[in-house]
Amino acid sequence: MDINYNDALFAVTEENLQKHAPHAEAAFQTAVQKTGRGNDFLGWIDLPAEISENDINEVEKCAAALAGKSQVVVVIGIGGSYLGARAVIEALQHSFRPMVAEKAPTILYAGNSMSEDYLHDLLDVLDQKDYSLIVISKSGTTTEPALAFRILKEHCEKKYGVDEARTRIVAVTDKARGALKTLATQEGYPTFVIPDDVGGRYSVLTPVGLLPIAVAGFSIRKLLEGAKAMRQLLLSAPKFADNPAMQYAAVRYELYNQGCKVELMTSFEPKLYFFIEWFKQLFGESEGKEHKGIFPAGAIFSTDLHSLGQYIQEGTRQLFETVLTVENAHHKVAIPFDEQNTDGLNYLQQRSINEINHIAQQGTCLAHVDGKVANLKVSIPEINEHYLGEMIYFFEMSCAISGYMLDVNPFDQPGVEAYKKNMFKLLGKPGF
Ligand code: PA5
Repeated sequence: MDINYNDALFAVTEENLQKHAPHAEAAFQTAVQKTGRGNDFLGWIDLPAEISENDINEVEKCAAALAGKSQVVVVIGIGGSYLGARAVIEALQHSFRPMVAEKAPTILYAGNSMSEDYLHDLLDVLDQKDYSLIVISKSGTTTEPALAFRILKEHCEKKYGVDEARTRIVAVTDKARGALKTLATQEGYPTFVIPDDVGGRYSVLTPVGLLPIAVAGFSIRKLLEGAKAMRQLLLSAPKFADNPAMQYAAVRYELYNQGCKVELMTSFEPKLYFFIEWFKQLFGESEGKEHKGIFPAGAIFSTDLHSLGQYIQEGTRQLFETVLTVENAHHKVAIPFDEQNTDGLNYLQQRSINEINHIAQQGTCLAHVDGKVANLKVSIPEINEHYLGEMIYFFEMSCAISGYMLDVNPFDQPGVEAYKKNMFKLLGKPGF
């Protein structure tokens, strides 16, 4: 993974970046020395190095058992309890997964909305497929996944009988607390524990992310190796000049102070759509408090160049862009030569689609820089487990540094409670 700021230097000079170096270094130390706010939620820092061979084996064993008897596995969870897994799975899997026959089951998602039609359609699919359920909730009490689980559990029990259903349902939750833990113990579901010191949005490298990713047929070992490599790089670099996470946090901080209140994370690779969703949640819930923080937004190009492109180029000057770049495609699709050349595309015939995509990216960046939108670039050579692992750890650490630079607690989310309280009151939940 590589990061560069060349196209942000018109706004963020080396000089004003250096001004933030001591602040970024101090914020990094606050995180790694565990001396700041939310310091009981810093378990993610050491996860990739500390996860044991036994824990990995357990996840792989359970994943193989579920995959062995399921055409579909439904991951039930919301926020940090599903976005990390989905980010990795959708980046790695075939773009049209449900339409191609592959060995691993198709992963579907539930519990992240309360759309009745969505649940109906999901049940329709589950009527016709062999399936299993992975229900994930750290608190074990979140309404959306709990409601989806109640419905899917009943469906599963009716379809397979209670005993067989118990072998098709796996719970990932707190070691002791919450309704899901109680239910899992009562029913005897295989259960994985979310460590106390890892919050939802930092939990992708625990069974929360690892189990669904392994079920989908991807290597959690390589993912962890990538994260471990990035951990090693960042933890061994206490100086600003050597630490890309501090630099990214400092560039963002400087742009924020200059009035850029929105970070638009973009990619020319649609497979990274959910990686951007994961990023949005990580930074949104970590930074957006005390009336501070950069609003994390996302876009996929070229698609959104034809919707948001106009605004980015000429709208209110309040945003900067971070472009996730994938250097190489895994496959080639040839551009055919056409005698008639009616569409005028023969001039592209010798080029690869990937090359053209990169040139579109270059052209976009030039245009946006002309329009005074600072562009940061995060590149990976290709999409694979290793580089996704590197990026996950990189953004997690950057987010912690960034939160501490803003002087907020990057590990709580008090604002999320507000809507829940209103909803419970309106629903007439006892006690609200
Ligand atoms: O990052 C977080 O902590 C949140 O987004 C949670 O993951 C989300 O609210 C789901 O919570 P739970 O896993 O307790 O159901």
